[in-house]
Amino acid sequence: MSPVLGAALDRVDGRAKVTGTARYSGELNLPGLAHAVLVGAEVPSGRIVGIDCRQASVADGVHAVLTHLDLPRVAAAPKLFPSLGGLVAHGQSFFPMQDDVVHYAGQPVAMVVADTIERAEYAGSLVQPTYAELPSTTLLDQGRDRAYEPERIFGGLLPGRNPTRGDPEAALRDAEVRLDLTYRFAANHHNPLEASTTTAVWDDADRLTLYDSTQGPTATQLSVAELLGLAATRIRVVSHYVGGGFGCKGLIWPHVTLAALAARQLGRPVRLVLSRDQMFHSCGHREEQEQRIRLGADRDGRLVALTHDKISLTSPFDDWAEPSLETVSATYAAPNYAGAYRLVRGNTITPTVTRAPGKATGMFALESAMDELAYATGVDPLELRLRNHADTDPDTGRPWSSKGLRECYQRGAELFGWADRDPTPGSRREGDLLIGTGMATAAYPVAAPITPQRARARMYIDGSAVVEAGISEFGTGALTAMTQVAADGLGLPFDRVRFVGGSTDLPNIAAAVGSAGASSTSSPVHLACTGLRDQLVGQAVADRQSPLHGADPAGVVVRDGRMCLRDRPEVGETYAELLTRNHVSDVETVGTWQPVLPETTDHAMQTFGAQFAEVAVDADLGLVRVRRMVGVFAPGRVLNRRTVHGQLMGGMLWGLSQALLEATRMDPHTGRWANANLADYLVPLNIDAPDVTVEVIEVPDPVVNPLGVKGVGEIGVVGAAAAIANAVHHATGRRIRHLPITVEDLL
Ligand code: MOS
Repeated sequence: MSPVLGAALDRVDGRAKVTGTARYSGELNLPGLAHAVLVGAEVPSGRIVGIDCRQASVADGVHAVLTHLDLPRVAAAPKLFPSLGGLVAHGQSFFPMQDDVVHYAGQPVAMVVADTIERAEYAGSLVQPTYAELPSTTLLDQGRDRAYEPERIFGGLLPGRNPTRGDPEAALRDAEVRLDLTYRFAANHHNPLEASTTTAVWDDADRLTLYDSTQGPTATQLSVAELLGLAATRIRVVSHYVGGGFGCKGLIWPHVTLAALAARQLGRPVRLVLSRDQMFHSCGHREEQEQRIRLGADRDGRLVALTHDKISLTSPFDDWAEPSLETVSATYAAPNYAGAYRLVRGNTITPTVTRAPGKATGMFALESAMDELAYATGVDPLELRLRNHADTDPDTGRPWSSKGLRECYQRGAELFGWADRDPTPGSRREGDLLIGTGMATAAYPVAAPITPQRARARMYIDGSAVVEAGISEFGTGALTAMTQVAADGLGLPFDRVRFVGGSTDLPNIAAAVGSAGASSTSSPVHLACTGLRDQLVGQAVADRQSPLHGADPAGVVVRDGRMCLRDRPEVGETYAELLTRNHVSDVETVGTWQPVLPETTDHAMQTFGAQFAEVAVDADLGLVRVRRMVGVFAPGRVLNRRTVHGQLMGGMLWGLSQALLEATRMDPHTGRWANANLADYLVPLNIDAPDVTVEVIEVPDPVVNPLGVKGVGEIGVVGAAAAIANAVHHATGRRIRHLPITVEDLL
């Protein structure tokens, strides 16, 4: 591998972003552009008995007011996503404005289109629906007695019950140490800086272009095609830059298709931007949930049994639960295990993937319980985890494709200074501050899309190359990392390669969710670029006029765009010389990667890491400050040290956020989120951000994909909140078994 792979190179889009020339979906100027605004239901459940649009229709600048009475019907019943992107990926199996039923507050009941967004918003405020309200369920506690066991969850991808191992009830009965602990989690929202935005343009041939802020252009194309009853060939999705996603732009939500319907009806381009408030009920959330963990162990802390039960609130129409049981079940070598989901139907939109979906909460529960087990048995928390290390996958007995967890524990403990710890709660005081430390395991599955992933590499006569794949750049640094993968594969300098993404005109890559973006894209990019390199080397050795004529292709290497003999580097020629001599203007190759799926491998695939945190809790005020965080992760190959560091550090700070700040509070009287704005939905500021140390252990992984990339998008979140909560316990002696931990909990 050349030094370009893994190097901490500057972002290729950095200059465009800091100078403001990077164009986002809401910034395109189009002639005749009209602006659509959605009007959301004010009640969480009921029927629309009347909708008075007279005032709105005659307001200045208004082109149209559409309701369920006049909006065209969609052509297909939407369904929740059947795959991790790449295929049709609707965000819910319900499409609004098709009838008079209100399922959740904020559900679109009208759409106003006007010449400016301000006029559309004003006219929207004049739309007057009247409702026959029905009783609603918006909190888990209101529907507990109606909980059911779903057959499948997560868009049908996972069973409602995890495979059982052994006899957990008997093992718990006989265990020397038993713990039965319940953890509660507030709902969370994604809150990317850029609100979801769609600009829909129909051309004369009745073809649709959508400029959309999506994590997956092709998934958007296929989903909208299905809903409109059009061939995919008639829809093009462009998504140059996306201002953050965190999961809420992973599935395809109704506003995208609504914008397309409005544009078609009006015969002009229409832009629809969700307001900040609408972002809270238009594109999913992390559901309110409760998880019960029971641990059985011997006196030395060796687990004999683990049970894990989750109950959560879903929408009226989808059996959604973020997958919290998987990974948790595979983290420790507990021989007896059972886990199941239960759901309560509530009046909210369908929840969705949110920052380490399932694992941020599931591993909080497990790693908090493991800390309690450490205290119950008197075993050091880190030693306890080592005693329960899973040498093979406990679920299946398969070997890991790679692991590196022991190394992460060891390096993290060194960096953090874990060995000196006095485990006694409340034993360290600095003035008014109680100081505590805690740790946790991080784990996240290596997810892969089920569809083949493709990329195209084209070299021009001058020896420069363009490499293309239909990904969107939503802040992860994907464009930069993929340029590095391409330069490495082609043997070109970094600045001779341009990587292009962001359009369905390019080879298909699945929506980047589940931390799979880097592997989904780097694999076909690597295959396309090494394929093109080999093709050109093959051409050179077959070319009588080439200095490489007759050489064994296996003995040819490419450096800085020059093919030469490994043993005699002075013998060779550049790509440009070969192509120029042969009058070839350009040459291209498509790389196709068939992802490694659990059913097609004999290995178990997870990413692991170790988290450490130190907190200072004001003894009088209950204020928690996180003073230090150390995270060491083993995410396979690193494509760009700087972007990987940024992803992992950002993940750890999201973990801090989950631990201490983030909660969307439902007001059950109105059935609406009470803090649907960025002032009242708390996230960490720079002043809250502690010194964060991130290190990576680059474990080789020959199984997961050609480059051994396991993904860094979300593992940084996992375990961070537990490390902080465990540190709060160490500081104060208080066990807080819900998130977020607030000042009130510690007073
Ligand atoms: Mo990630 S929350 O799976 O987009």
